[in-house]
Amino acid sequence: MAQELMDKVVSLCKRRGFIFQSSDIYGGLSNTWDYGPYGIELKNNLKAAWWKANVHERDDILGMDAAILMHPKVWEASGHVSNFIDRYKDCLVCKKRIKADDPRWDPKRPNWCPECEHDGLGLTDIREFNLMLKTTLGAVEIGGMEAYLRPETAQGMFVNFLNILDSRHPKLPFGLAQIGKAFRNEITPGNFTFRTREFEQMEIEYFVRPSEADSKLAEWIDYRFSWYINLGLKKENLRKRPHAKDELAHYALACTDIEYNFPFGWSELEGIANRTDFDLKQHSQASGKELQYFDDSTKERFYPYIIEPSGGVDRSVLAFLVDAYNEEKVRDDTRVVLKLDKDLAPVKVAVLPLLRNRPEIVELARKINADLKKSSVSVYDDTAAIGKLYRRQDEVGTPFCVTVDVQSLEDKQVTVRERDTMLQERISVDRLKEYISGKLERVI
Ligand code: GAP
Repeated sequence: MAQELMDKVVSLCKRRGFIFQSSDIYGGLSNTWDYGPYGIELKNNLKAAWWKANVHERDDILGMDAAILMHPKVWEASGHVSNFIDRYKDCLVCKKRIKADDPRWDPKRPNWCPECEHDGLGLTDIREFNLMLKTTLGAVEIGGMEAYLRPETAQGMFVNFLNILDSRHPKLPFGLAQIGKAFRNEITPGNFTFRTREFEQMEIEYFVRPSEADSKLAEWIDYRFSWYINLGLKKENLRKRPHAKDELAHYALACTDIEYNFPFGWSELEGIANRTDFDLKQHSQASGKELQYFDDSTKERFYPYIIEPSGGVDRSVLAFLVDAYNEEKVRDDTRVVLKLDKDLAPVKVAVLPLLRNRPEIVELARKINADLKKSSVSVYDDTAAIGKLYRRQDEVGTPFCVTVDVQSLEDKQVTVRERDTMLQERISVDRLKEYISGKLERVI
């Protein structure tokens, strides 16, 4: 049942142009995905909603955008060169690579493979593998410099700590926010866009006095949890899971994951960690630049602690797609509808002429569409009969359809159909833009 839901979402994504297999015409590159026309709109809307809630609506957070490539010493200082490691065993029988911390291992049967269930001498010893992807800068033939594609956006914010203090003079507590690509040479990617080697993160590094770290961590966990619910994820599909000590990252004192109940099980959407003063101290030592904060009021100099809410864009997109997917019986038919929040919906309104062979109707519909485009994301479609056009828009989550019919030519009114209720209302063309804008406005 759960796998069936996942298959349906994956199929809808391809069929309707949300997400495609990368390099499809060459047989595809495994676990690598491209966002199509609706996918990029959804992803951009999700990022915009995150930016609005975490940067524009707050006075204590500043946005930034650091480069993906950084000085290789960053990753030595951050501990990623020595600690960002996955451990795994290979099964020589089924050729599968299985993580050493996979819960399926049976401690009583050291030679048993949880994938093919062969119990013999078919497993390698544990091997270690650094997750950072390497690249070479400059002319390779004459000794180019080895660099990494960043595995987290966070370090770009830590190494700019002094630049931010000197240019913007923020007072504690304050944060930096960034959305950007990250890369990891994952050993076991999979589950569609859930775990990939190239993905986007939405990260906040929130600098606090060490004494406030626990209370700010708790505040951020609640704030981030509410964000997902306010944007439409069902509360029963979300939970908070504090990390056990032995699963904490090398830099973290504490961490709580926000998990989503994906069709393949409860899995991490976002981690909210207390990174202590680890990163600022490490970079101070390694760079020779003192990354302390000077408190004017107490005349103290110290390393702030960092609370880090770190979420995945692609994972969130997947969670919102799965959560919004609905099938409803409508008379003898099944309607597939993506009940996405209006802020996330790739298209906000579709203008549909009831009869495409009546030039006056087409002309009016096109005019209305051009007008709506000035204030919203509107599309025009006349490539099928009205029932089919509605279904198409339902499948991609368009909140409103505007239908122009013969009557519209006389009474200058159109029919507005709402996605979730399918209720229809006649609205005067003069008032339409204002009506749609009002409906799309976020009421908090
Ligand atoms: N700076 C902290 C950090 O990177 P993380 O838990 O390793 O922490 C944060 O990653 C978030 O990034 C995760 O919660 C997840 O949403 C996303 N993420 C991590 N690895 C990913 C992968 N291989 N594919 C897709 N998203 C990933």
